[in-house]
Amino acid sequence: MAFDIDMIKEVYSKFPQRVNKAREIVGKPLTLSEKILYSHLWDGNPSKVYRRGKDYVDFAPDRIACQDATAQMALLQFMQAGKPKVAVPTTVHCDHLIQAKSGAAQDLKSALSSSNEVFHFLESVSDKYGIGFWKPGAGIIHQVVLENYAFPGGMMIGTDSHTVNAGGLGMVAIGVGGADAVDVMAGMAWELKFPKLIGVRLTGKLSGWTAPKDVILKVAEILTVKGGTGAIVEYFGPGAKSMSCTGKGTICNMGAEIGATTSTFGYDESMDRYLRATDRPDVADEANKIKEYLTADPEVYANPEQYFDQVIDINLDELMPLLNGPFTPDLATPVGTMRDKATKNDWPLKVEWGLIGSCTNSSYEDLSRAASIAQQALDKKLKTKAEFGINPGSEQVRYTAERDGILQVFEKLDAKIFTNACGPCIGQWARYEDPKNAPKNSIVHSFNRNFAKRADGNPNTHAFVASPEITAAIAIAGRLDFNPMTDKLINEDGVEVMLDEPTGWELPPKGFEVKDNGYLEPVEDGSGVVVKVDPSSERLQLLEPFVPIQDAELQGVKLLIKAFGKCTTDHISMAGPWLRFRGHLDNISNNTLIGAVNAFNKKTNFVKSQLDGEYGGVPDTQRAYKAQGIKTIVVGDHNYGEGSSREHAAMQPRFLGVAAVLVKSFARIHETNLKKQGMLALTFANENDYDLIKEDDTFNFVDIANFAPDTPLTIEVVHKDGSKDMIKANHTYNKAQIDWYREGSALNLIKKQNA
Ligand code: F3S
Repeated sequence: MAFDIDMIKEVYSKFPQRVNKAREIVGKPLTLSEKILYSHLWDGNPSKVYRRGKDYVDFAPDRIACQDATAQMALLQFMQAGKPKVAVPTTVHCDHLIQAKSGAAQDLKSALSSSNEVFHFLESVSDKYGIGFWKPGAGIIHQVVLENYAFPGGMMIGTDSHTVNAGGLGMVAIGVGGADAVDVMAGMAWELKFPKLIGVRLTGKLSGWTAPKDVILKVAEILTVKGGTGAIVEYFGPGAKSMSCTGKGTICNMGAEIGATTSTFGYDESMDRYLRATDRPDVADEANKIKEYLTADPEVYANPEQYFDQVIDINLDELMPLLNGPFTPDLATPVGTMRDKATKNDWPLKVEWGLIGSCTNSSYEDLSRAASIAQQALDKKLKTKAEFGINPGSEQVRYTAERDGILQVFEKLDAKIFTNACGPCIGQWARYEDPKNAPKNSIVHSFNRNFAKRADGNPNTHAFVASPEITAAIAIAGRLDFNPMTDKLINEDGVEVMLDEPTGWELPPKGFEVKDNGYLEPVEDGSGVVVKVDPSSERLQLLEPFVPIQDAELQGVKLLIKAFGKCTTDHISMAGPWLRFRGHLDNISNNTLIGAVNAFNKKTNFVKSQLDGEYGGVPDTQRAYKAQGIKTIVVGDHNYGEGSSREHAAMQPRFLGVAAVLVKSFARIHETNLKKQGMLALTFANENDYDLIKEDDTFNFVDIANFAPDTPLTIEVVHKDGSKDMIKANHTYNKAQIDWYREGSALNLIKKQNA
């Protein structure tokens, strides 16, 4: 069974009473987002009002979804928790590690050979710990989740930023780092700052060439890539109801591009239709029983300004198709007005590729509408100017689209049908032999992200984001400035023709069909399943529990690096080629802090070793300290560890023997990740003390034996000339977090408690 109806019934059985209680406590009508948040509190009982954008709250998510790249370290960590099974229904989806090159059959074969050990590892861990496993080729995580697991009013976390896609089916679904997912798998609460709320009122109705994608492209223009930060975006109004469920998914998906915590829509008939079409009539029946709870209270949508922190109005009758880009998803240009802008900015007007798919736009509806345009190229004898690439979102979508002749339309245009996987959306596109030196060019795609190098590794590729139907039209015309609403094209007979408006099906008229959806149910009792990792593997390594740091080791601590300025998780643990090693802590540790700028020479990856006075790379220098059993400290500036929630940025320094990180201020998620790994995450009580730290300093944690909540630590800093400074370091450890530290890590503590 792919989804768990009993779990959903359980959630719904408590939902009304919890919402009623929350409404009473908050003292006013509730938005949908608040209803879902308050009904998923960790202690199950709304008892106080949480301040938006201020209070940290413990939640109990209903589900977890992981993709193959991030799942590796998450599951390696979970294996440390000593639990026989995951505490919350969890699935793993193999979609990121499949390169697009020749077409689905060949590409899948290559991926199965090049990443076989990773897939095999994920499959066996899933089997052992009761995790649903979606094989390579089964589909893209978020489309598969929408088809199988998302349910109105639910709360989900996932180890991928576009987990938010499930908002299309009325969930609060949030992308998190592996460490957060591991906590929830292990039965712990999940902490989130109570979000702010942005309401988007959609009036009118989409028509003609305009698609749901244009709604989010417009919202991105209005809010920019940062405007949704820390907020849930809730869409409502007649325009919202008139859109398909998968269209809503597209809008929520790209909420990640405006920095939003997540986005969601109230339950409506489109969701009912989608649930039934995807073989979940029982979920629809259950949702209908409490449907007034699965949307905001009527007063909220009647008077949104009173209940949301910000309200945006979009009239779908007036909305025009947009092309967003290049290099950023919030730079919107109405279709047909690109010529001047492109010429002025020197963006190539000629379009080389049109790519349709990704988790953002790979539904049956998307493919059918784009195919209606592609079919016209055949009927009207148009020669397509750009190449087509298609990534169906799931095997169910692919199989049904093939059955209905949709994929064949693209194939007749010589399109490449890639695997049901991320492919070009995550740079897994073997477009060039040498992408770094590839020529300047433009492409159009229906994906979500269009940063430099994102699709094909070529920094000179100008990627523009559009709806699938506009992508198809522009690929046929081969020009960025083509406006299908007004412009004519010359066909093979030299006759001028125009493209008609797209048509398509919200859901397949003959229903969905699939032979093998690629799902593997875990065995009931996984205790006998052996997870094998080849000790000589360069991509996977089983973890050893971290050894608690002893108080005595915190005397004579050496400075590893004093980082200057911005030090993000990417500076601490770089991505790019290193992603290959995300399941191998020792190997990926060779990138530790190589992007951080040394405050003493303003160089990266060039620090002084106090062992021999020589300068060298950070990982090598640190490994030399480790070999001699000497603990080290990293000193940093403001907002240290900002960026992603990547747990590697905490695990690697810990693995290499760094004991403490002392900074002016932390990005909160990274601070928590350091605590979880059993390290000291400290801030200067007096910010100016940062300036006291010298290259050859030694640190003595004089009162570490008394480490306690709300009590700063005292550190004696001994300089090379023998002079000393006593400094105070603040921390935010509570009692439980100090226990993590004393046990060596949060997982060690969980394991001990389970023993
Ligand atoms: Fe995959 Fe791209 Fe979505 S990488 S999960 S298709 S954003």
